[in-house]
Amino acid sequence: MTATIIDGKAFAADIREQVRLQVEENLQKGGVRPGLAVVLVGDDAASDVYVRNKGIAAEAAGFYSETHRLPGETTQQQLLDLIQELNHKSSIHGILVQLPLPAHLDKEAVIAAIAPHKDVDGFHPHNVGKLWLGEKDCPVPCTPLGCSLILEHHLGSNLEGKKAVVIGASNIVGKPMAALLMRMRATVTVCNSKTPNLPEVARQADILVVAAGRAELVKADWIKAGAIVLDVGINRIERDGKAQLVGDVDFAAAKAVAGAITPVPGGIGPMTIACLLRNTLQLQQLSTQM
Ligand code: GUN
Repeated sequence: MTATIIDGKAFAADIREQVRLQVEENLQKGGVRPGLAVVLVGDDAASDVYVRNKGIAAEAAGFYSETHRLPGETTQQQLLDLIQELNHKSSIHGILVQLPLPAHLDKEAVIAAIAPHKDVDGFHPHNVGKLWLGEKDCPVPCTPLGCSLILEHHLGSNLEGKKAVVIGASNIVGKPMAALLMRMRATVTVCNSKTPNLPEVARQADILVVAAGRAELVKADWIKAGAIVLDVGINRIERDGKAQLVGDVDFAAAKAVAGAITPVPGGIGPMTIACLLRNTLQLQQLSTQM
């Protein structure tokens, strides 16, 4: 048996089209255009590409979009001042500060400065708390949200009786993923790189989400036959003298064991931007109800 290869690119394109149509319909009814502000500090090459793609996607969905590129030596106060300005700007419904920030900036204070009702990443402690309480009306971090939509598509929204294992416990992916899986009533184990018998723990999973940031960490014999495997990793490696993009799962071997698996690229990656658009639209719609 070989796994179903989950086409995240097509799934993401569907979501983006649904968002675009909804925006068009709302505007025709005299509604407000969703506005997204993306802030990048410094000149990290990967972040630069992500930020550019976010702006392009926002405009393609019919959003108003602003990208603020600040120099690497921007002070904490300058960044907080910009966030305050965006918090008060009525054309902006979602604010995203691209991470990682340069080391001299206080990430927690920056995130806490974003108005919770404009926190499109769902990183503000207010929204993190709501997610862990199992509430449904809070913005959810984009990458785990994308994973949960794929799971819902394949398994339905009720994961009762299913064992889920998350490898990686970051604030951006692992922790919110665990909260979402719990909200969907799965039995959840969260691991890190020091978890004893990690392969054995992974092998228990009906649902395996890997966000470890280690190229091809998960081997075929870590996977239960028929499991659904979501690979959040994006690692640039060199193989046979060529630069290559690989996930945190040894895809070529894993697909012979898994029931369904996301490839890298073209799996979870495209879902992140689609979910960012979905979150921005949701925040705009909630703002008109306040
Ligand atoms: N850096 C990597 N992923 C993300 C994300 O989802 N949001 C933000 N703001 N920064 C990131």
